[in-house]
Parts: sequence; structure tokens; C-alpha cells
Amino acid sequence: MKRSIITTSDGSKTIQIEDLNERYHSIHGALQEAMHVYILAGFNTYLKRHPKQIKINIMEIGFGTGLNTLLTASLNSKVNNKVYYHGIEAYPVNKRELDLLNYDNIIKSEASIFRLIHDCLWNKTHEILPNFFLKKKLDFFSNVNEINMFNVIYFDAFGPRVQPNLWTEFIFKKMYDSLRLNGILVTYSAKGSVRRNLQSVGFLVERLPGPPGKREMLRATKVL
Ligand SMILES: C[S@@+](CC[C@H](N)C(=O)[O-])C[C@H]1O[C@@H](n2cnc3c(N)ncnc32)[C@H](O)[C@@H]1O
Repeated sequence: MKRSIITTSDGSKTIQIEDLNERYHSIHGALQEAMHVYILAGFNTYLKRHPKQIKINIMEIGFGTGLNTLLTASLNSKVNNKVYYHGIEAYPVNKRELDLLNYDNIIKSEASIFRLIHDCLWNKTHEILPNFFLKKKLDFFSNVNEINMFNVIYFDAFGPRVQPNLWTEFIFKKMYDSLRLNGILVTYSAKGSVRRNLQSVGFLVERLPGPPGKREMLRATKVL
């Protein structure tokens, strides 16, 4: 499928899939969306709710461009927890696309964190920054089988319009089982069917204000 790089409303870039009219991030601002949904409502909220938890396991459903990984690694270099980040992806972004995205512009640091993220090998764990361990897993979401492992899930699949099979009870049950008690899942989608499917596998679901251009987003907590 033809993919092209486009600029979103906050000036940050993303990938567009022409045939599907679908993007990796919001057209209203890729960086703003990633910060709002995954970093503030996800990682930051978990840290606030569990200030004594030092070791945090994060799983990202749809590693994609590595933007969420970049922002999480950068934030963690300030708070310095021990983060194990598992990015699941079946169709990696290529080098030409990564160069065009130019996310080095977003986090300026001596060694390019974006390069460190993309240069490390798939299916191996690398400590790419002190206390930030990254495992990029080349696999399909349906193969996630971990039990009680993650504290936070960034659920960032393509939307229900184009991949309805990824927003089902079948997938959300896997997410629920893979989370530890009190773990959270955050996602940009606030669709009614998504919320109901999350609730029906056992999650307590909050509707939160969405990033610019979106009224709401969802945060689901494993409470039992
Ligand atoms: C919305 S994009 C993810 C954006 C990403 N979080 C980022 O910040 O760039 C969805 C990602 O899921 C991947 N994907 C789609 N279907 C998949 C599947 N069944 N298993 C694994 N990865 C899949 C796509 O290749 C794409 O990278």
C-alpha cells in the first residue's frame, strides 16, 4: 500500500496510507496527540497513581514510527524509573520514511534517541538509555500472550474503520490478561463499540477529554 509523509497541524510529521485514507497519527497534530493520549493520560498517570513503582513494563500496540517510544524514553530520562518497553509491530517503517519524519527535531539530545530506537535489532532487548530497555517485537498483535506482565498499554492500532478486527473483545481480552492489576490501557479512540468491548472483558473505562481536534479518548483500568 502506498505510504507518504505528511505534515500535521502542529508541524510534526506522520505517515499517511493513501489507499485507506488512514494516518499513523492525528491530522490535528501527531506530537500533540502522542503527548496527550499516551504520555500524559498513560505513562504519567500511571506514575502518579503508583509513585512507589520503580519498574514499569509498557507495551505498545503498533510501534510504528517510534514516536511514543521516543517521548516515553525522553520523559523517563528525567524521572529515571526502570522502564521495559515492548513495541509490537508487524510492518516496520522503512529507513527512507524515518529520515523524512525527522523526529530528531522533536527531542534534541546529544546522541539521537530516535536513531538509538531504530538502530537496535528486532526481537532483542537493548538498554538504549540508562534505565530504558527497549524490545521491538516483530509480530502480530493477535500473538500477544503475556499474562500479568504490563503496567501500561499504549493501544495505537489503526482505527476501527479500517481494522475492526483489532478493536474486538478477542484482542481486548488479551490486553486485559497481559496487564497487571491496576494496569492501564490508553487509546485515542472513544468509539462507543470500543468502550463497550473494553468494558465487557472487565475493564473500568473512563472517557477523558481528547487531544486537539478530538472530543474524547479512553483510559481503561484493570481493577479486578
Ligand atoms: C496507528 S499506527 C501506530 C503508530 C505508532 N504508535 C506511532 O507512534 O508511530 C498502527 C501500527 O500498527 C501496525 N499494524 C497494523 N496491523 C497490525 C497487526 N495485525 N499486527 C501488528 N502490527 C500491526 C501498523 O504497521 C502500524 O505501524
